[in-house]
Amino acid sequence: MARGGARRVPRAGPGFPSAASLRMVFAPVKSTPLRRLIPSRIVGGGDDPIFALNAEANRRRAAGEAVVNSTLGVLLDEDLRLSTLPSVLEAYRRLPAERGAGYAPIAGPRPFLDAVRKDVFGASPLLAHSCAVATPGGTGALALAVANFLEVGQPLLTPSFYWGPYDTIASIAGRRVETFSMFDRDGRFHVAALEEALARQAATQGRALLVLNTPCNNPTGYSLDAHDWDALVPVLQAASQRMPLCVLMDVAYARYAQGNPFDWVDRFAPLVEDLTLLVAWSASKSFAQYGARVGACIAVETDPKELLLVESALTNGCRGTWSNGNHLGLLAITECLTDPLLSVSSMKERVALRTMLTARVDAFTALCKTASLRHPRYEGGFFVTVECPQPEVAAARMRELGVFVVPVKGALRVALCSTPLASVPRLVDALATSVLQPQ
Ligand SMILES: Cc1ncc(COP(=O)(O)O)c(C=O)c1O
Repeated sequence: MARGGARRVPRAGPGFPSAASLRMVFAPVKSTPLRRLIPSRIVGGGDDPIFALNAEANRRRAAGEAVVNSTLGVLLDEDLRLSTLPSVLEAYRRLPAERGAGYAPIAGPRPFLDAVRKDVFGASPLLAHSCAVATPGGTGALALAVANFLEVGQPLLTPSFYWGPYDTIASIAGRRVETFSMFDRDGRFHVAALEEALARQAATQGRALLVLNTPCNNPTGYSLDAHDWDALVPVLQAASQRMPLCVLMDVAYARYAQGNPFDWVDRFAPLVEDLTLLVAWSASKSFAQYGARVGACIAVETDPKELLLVESALTNGCRGTWSNGNHLGLLAITECLTDPLLSVSSMKERVALRTMLTARVDAFTALCKTASLRHPRYEGGFFVTVECPQPEVAAARMRELGVFVVPVKGALRVALCSTPLASVPRLVDALATSVLQPQ
């Protein structure tokens, strides 16, 4: 027998083995199947559970049922059509297709990078200390942060309510997720729990990557306010003296917040001498361009040499992961950020979308109050979570009533972004029936 268990190749013709003889040669000698997939990648059901619930809701709707589908994180109008910004579509129309056909620079086109930095930092002095690379959505920025600011095996730190794919992003890179309790007894951001977690990570791994998804946290809808920041800043300051600390602001939903979505920038200014600030910027929600996969990883370092090193590491990360971004998408979003007319019209169009969402938020919070359903402070954003001791059971009951929400740990995530105003009363009724019913 030949090496590796192969048998002698019977000849089929002048020098060529037949298909049958090849099957014999490469047939496994042992009866156990050979698995080529490496053990650490046996993850089961590759489909995201949210997409699976959405598919079930759509199947039932297509079969004629009047379903309320509050699962998916995309903004739908009152007629359940995907909301888009006409100015973005106009920007695409204006661009010669051949410009988009060429490769984008690896780090992204310079005008795009300048525009996103300006979008976040405006007139802040942090602008001058920042760099950026283009990424496929905020997801790409998160992936770069994990790969560049944590060693293999180390966990990122984030509040206990977080966007599920953080786990996937971390685990695919050989890292993990560690959480701290997001809310204290008064329903405020649990700064003391964060302080404890940072101290633990300082002791166990000597570095930390803290991911804060605010404003409009997914899944709770909570936004850090001035009171939270006042408590948070000294904790971050102290932690940055103990270990290398990187704070990533995941601002995926920032443009749907009440007030200035980047009011935290000024609060960060005194911290940036001592820590790295990253921003996961995304056009998916802010320009209703989920499929364009346009985003950026923005970094702030006050030491110019360090800034250069970080920029190189991020650019190298782009090359080794997706190589270049979606050129046409990057050009179109640049137009929307920089063209005087397009930027004004996209802002106006977004205000209309925010107004539509705010009407749902106001109706939802008022009805929840009447029904004694508990949820974190929620003033805007795509999602809210309703406290629920047995989320899987309650979500299943709601599905029987034709209302789809997503069970998360200790709560139900409700996507008001995809729930028309007219369906909010039925949604709250189903929540009240299913969450408050004795288990
Ligand atoms: C909290 C949060 N961060 C980041 C993202 C990334 O989105 P994208 O990669 O489309 O920008 C999402 C998307 O749903 C999200 O909910």
